[in-house]
This record gives sequence, C-alpha cells and structure tokens, in this order.
Amino acid sequence: MLKKFYLTTPLYYINSTPHIGHSYTNIAADTLARFHRQWGEDVYFLTGTDEHGQKIAKAAAQANLKEKDFADKMVSVFVELWKSLDISYDDFIRTTEERHTAVVKNILNILHKKGDLYLDEYSGWYCTPCETFWVDSQIEEKNCPDCKRQLEKIQEKNFFLKLSKYQGWLIEYVKTHPDFIKPVSRYNEVLSFLENNTLTDLCVSRPRSRLSWGIEIPFSPDHVTYVWFDALINYISAIGFGYDEAKFKKYWPADLHLIGKDILRQHAVIWPIILKALGLEMPRLIFAHGWWMVGEDKMSKSRGNVVAPLAMVEKYGIDTYRYFLLRDVPFGLDGSFSDAAIIKRKNSDLANDLGNLIHRSATMVEKYFSGSLPETGEIGHFPLKAECDKLENELRQAIGNIDFSSCLDKIWQVVNQANKFIEDTKPWNLLKEGKKQELDSFILLLVYVIRRMSKILSPFMPQSAKMIQEQFASSRITKGVPLFPRIDLSSEDGKVYPSG
Ligand code: MSP
Repeated sequence: MLKKFYLTTPLYYINSTPHIGHSYTNIAADTLARFHRQWGEDVYFLTGTDEHGQKIAKAAAQANLKEKDFADKMVSVFVELWKSLDISYDDFIRTTEERHTAVVKNILNILHKKGDLYLDEYSGWYCTPCETFWVDSQIEEKNCPDCKRQLEKIQEKNFFLKLSKYQGWLIEYVKTHPDFIKPVSRYNEVLSFLENNTLTDLCVSRPRSRLSWGIEIPFSPDHVTYVWFDALINYISAIGFGYDEAKFKKYWPADLHLIGKDILRQHAVIWPIILKALGLEMPRLIFAHGWWMVGEDKMSKSRGNVVAPLAMVEKYGIDTYRYFLLRDVPFGLDGSFSDAAIIKRKNSDLANDLGNLIHRSATMVEKYFSGSLPETGEIGHFPLKAECDKLENELRQAIGNIDFSSCLDKIWQVVNQANKFIEDTKPWNLLKEGKKQELDSFILLLVYVIRRMSKILSPFMPQSAKMIQEQFASSRITKGVPLFPRIDLSSEDGKVYPSG
C-alpha cells in the first residue's frame, strides 16, 4: 500500500479578501504536497474556508447580503486566488457544507452523551474580532489580550467542553511526544502554557438570540456552535468521520496540520482534547509558522497596509512570489515583506543565478552544438555531479523538517557551483582548442544538472520548472526567453517598475 500523507491548512475566514499571510500557508502546504507526491505518496491536501460566527455575520450585514450568499461570493475569491497561485489541493471544505455540519452535530451528540459537554451559566468577556472568550483573570482593562481591542461583557447559559478533565493527559502527551509541535519554540510555549495555567472549560455554544449564524446544537435548538469548535472539526469531517469509515481510516491521523503561530493554542490544546474525548489518534505534527509583517507593522485593514497576493503575482510573477516567501525567511520565524526584498531576490537568485545558468547553457548548446546535444560522450566524475546527486536526499531531509529556506539554500549552492563550473571550464577555449570530448562531457553534465534541478525545483516553482523541463526535455534544446527577467532599479524617478 502507498504511504499516505494527509496535510491540512487552516480554514480561512471569509469576512475579507485574502492577503499575503493567507497565501503563505497555502504556498507552503502546496510545496510540501508536491514533494510528497514526487516521492510517490498518496497525498491528501486539504484547505477550505471558515464561514460561521459573528465576524462573518457582521461582514455579511455590512455588505447587505444574507450570510450564505455573502459566503458564496467570498469563497470564489479564495478559490480563484488558489488557482492563480497554483495551489494543488485535493479537497476544499467549506464549513457550511452538509458533509461538515452533519459531522459537527454528530460530534456534539457524542460528547454530550459522554458527559464531556455540559450546560452552565457563564460570564466573561468576549472579543468579537478574535471570536474568543476571556475570563477576568486573563484580561487587563477590558481589552483583548491578543488584539488589544475592547471586549464585551457577556453573561449567558451555554454548553461547555471539559478541557480541565484532559489537562493532565495533554501535559503528559506533549511531554512524551517531543515532535508533536514544531518549531521547538512553539512546543515550549504550549508546554509552559499547560504547566502554568489551569485550563478553564471551553464555551462551545452561542445563544441563538445573540448569534444565529452557526451550526445548530442538535440537543438545544436555542444554541449554535462556537465557530472554533465547528471549524477544527473540518480536519476529520472532510475525510469521512462517521460517514466514510474506509476513507477516514485511510487518512487519519493527519500527518501535518500547518498553521500560523497565532492559532497555535486552538490547535495544540483544544483540538487534541476534542480528539481525545472522541477516542481518536492525535495528529502527527502541528507546525506553526511565523507572521509576515509589513516593515515592522502587523498587516491590517485599519493601518491600510494589507498586501494583496494577486497584486504581487501580477508585478513579479507567481513563481517569484512563491520563491520569495519560502526563501527569504526560515519557516517558523517572522518576516518583513517589502517590494525591495522581493526585487533583490528576483534579481540575484532568480535572474542572476538560476536564470543565467539556464540561459547560458541553452545558448551554448545552440552555439557550440547547433542546438542538439552530443549523442555520445560521458558526463564524467565531476564534483558538481556528485553534489547534484546528493541533493535529492538532502532535500528529503530538509523538507521532512519543513525547512524550506535551507532546502532552497542547498539547491542554490549547486546552481552557483554549476555557474562556477562554466566559468572555470571556459568552454569557449575548449572549442578553440578542438577538445571535442571535453566539450561534450561539459555540456552533458550541465544539462544533466539542469534537468535534475527542474525536478527538484518544481514543488517550489511549478510553472518555471515546467518551462525548463520543456526546454531541456529532448536532445534538441531550444533557447527560450529568459525565465526571470531582471527588474531594472535605475529608473529616473527612483520608483520601481518591473520590466518582466
Ligand atoms: N479561521 C481561523 C482558522 C481555523 S482553522 C480550523 C483563522 N483564520 S484566518 O483567516 O484568520 O487565518 C488563517 C491563517 O492565516 C492562520 O494560520 C494565520 O496564522 C495566517 N495568517 C494571517 N495573517 C498572517 C500574516 N500576516 N502572516 C502569516 N500568516 C498569517 O484563524
């Protein structure tokens, strides 16, 4: 049986259009999915949208639309974006779909019967933008500890999930599974949170009188389900929990939940407890990446600094954008997004290094070999070949550690080595001196390296890799247009005008 790889992204809130932060998670997930497919695994890559809750209800009201109509409209924006970014997901789940809502209700029933869900009077503070409850001890001056916005005081009857019952178990689980949460800084953060706080039970319902846009609690029609409880369940509703046992058995547990660092606690505390209460296995790994800032600032509508992914794609091309996000910052750390930083990467890594290698190699085949590779001749035992052959294994390891930047770094070492190989070999002299055999083996090695590169790079830059593959597939090699045209920074008014 094929090894399976079940990979998930968070479900994106659809109250506003996606920004670069959202595209970051999906580009990272897509790259992983493509690697695992290359390795012959049975990949199930799930993404989707989080469509219930107060935030969405408010946005719909502002747009003068019914919630579901608003959601339908917004979802298409996400779907289109993923298409434009070449995101190769296998499944897209919307929390308003019947296949999801039925599972949420089923799970509420199971947990209620089991006694892990109970009704109680609750009083606390609510942050609408974060959809999060806080108790007195957690807040200062009626502001949300996360986003600092003003909280609303709330008192009502609701259903609670017994997080407290599972705290001891979870601490033990985390302690005995050092690879459960990564990077290690996030692992430590979760463990220290669990060890230094007493978990309060989680309010998983909302009275319909206050919020009607949610999944009805099956045993209490006056309540709807809290949006986070609803959304987390997507990871098992999409793969058949309770209705397609074969599929569920095949893919659960998830091999990787990819998330941003801001939603770590929901994934590493609440979600494992829901799974444990259901008697299900834990996901193998929760990986929380860092945040993209704009300069030093958080991106937000109110600051007016939100960067739209499509604008970046139009300006720089899909693959440059994908490359930049995964290359510029080690996955797990925060990054600072700017046009200048993308342009620098494009001009140096893509135009100068990779683009140049491809272009000059094709030019040499054209010039020295009239466009056709020599039919005979040996590649020879050059260090460049050995480095290139080693690469695939090294990348397997780096990708296994979800370390994109060091993966790309290793690839570029070989790209640079290949460029140096051209300079050191001086093929123009070989030609002059009539050293045909050496010239043959020189070009065969370069083409070998480029072909290997195009395979290795394709999870990161699918379109460019395909173009390279087409150019170098047969022994007849055609010189194409430069793949990554340089961006000219020396325009007269000092502004940046991409040339390609
Ligand atoms: N709907 C919840 C997730 C539910 S998962 C069952 C949610 N949605 S979100 O749209 O607000 O965020 C989705 C993801 O985008 C999160 O992983 C978050 O970390 C990520 N990002 C949002 N802004 C970001 C940046 N500025 N930079 C990087 N990623 C960021 O939370």
